[in-house]
Amino acid sequence: MKNPKDVGDDDIYDPQFVANLFDRCSSSYRRWSAISSFGFISLWRYQCVNRLIPPAHTGSIAVDLMAGTGEVWPHLLRRFPDLGTITALDISHRMHLEAVDRLHGKYADMITHIEADALRTDLPSDYADLVISTFGLKTFDRDHQSVLAKQIARILKPGGSFALIEASDPKGWMLRPFYRFYLDRILPQIERFFLKGAKDFSMIGTYTRNYGDSTHMAEALREAGLSVTLKNHFFGCATSVAGYRPVKR
Ligand SMILES: C[S@@+](CC[C@H](N)C(=O)[O-])C[C@H]1O[C@@H](n2cnc3c(N)ncnc32)[C@H](O)[C@@H]1O
Repeated sequence: MKNPKDVGDDDIYDPQFVANLFDRCSSSYRRWSAISSFGFISLWRYQCVNRLIPPAHTGSIAVDLMAGTGEVWPHLLRRFPDLGTITALDISHRMHLEAVDRLHGKYADMITHIEADALRTDLPSDYADLVISTFGLKTFDRDHQSVLAKQIARILKPGGSFALIEASDPKGWMLRPFYRFYLDRILPQIERFFLKGAKDFSMIGTYTRNYGDSTHMAEALREAGLSVTLKNHFFGCATSVAGYRPVKR
């Protein structure tokens, strides 16, 4: 029987496979994600940022994991105008380039770009006041999610807070069959037509189905010693986990 991790001969959870996939998607990512989600993706980023607990001091450090083209930064900076720096970590070289291309004005200096695998990052321990990640979880299988949870617990300062959100499979929702039909059938056709036969964004349907929701990520973060709550967004079409690192573990 075929392993759901494999497409053709490829392991879709191999970080190099994921990096190549997003390298190819990078130039159309921003527009495609906004249009294909009917604008929901921006609302969900905003709601994710709102789940962060404000740091007690100015000049704090935020780490954006799986930062992509930096779509969450405007939300972050609007909510925390006193932020010191944003450390943007992503494995895809081209997603970083797109982000840099788009940076302008006063906040360009605030962003530090790190091209690295989040599972193996050597960011210092007790480094961040805030950790955010928007739509970067689905390309991790369960074992990877446990490793990522430990990384987040390690990077966060005691008392620091985190919020992560991901598109999810809204099991039990009356309209789920339509939602799945859209993700699995309609989106691939649109992509093939408008992006000259490409099948990259269509992978998102596969990743989302395999991801399920953020329940496992919540458990992994709890096991890593963090305080965690799970939340549904729009009937479970996205789920977020947020919380903080207790001062004493
Ligand atoms: C769907 S995009 C999300 C980008 C952005 N955060 C947003 O809100 O649109 C997922 C990003 O995760 C990155 N990514 C996937 N696996 C990664 C890993 N192991 N380490 C670092 N980045 C990774 C991809 O390169 C991609 O840029």
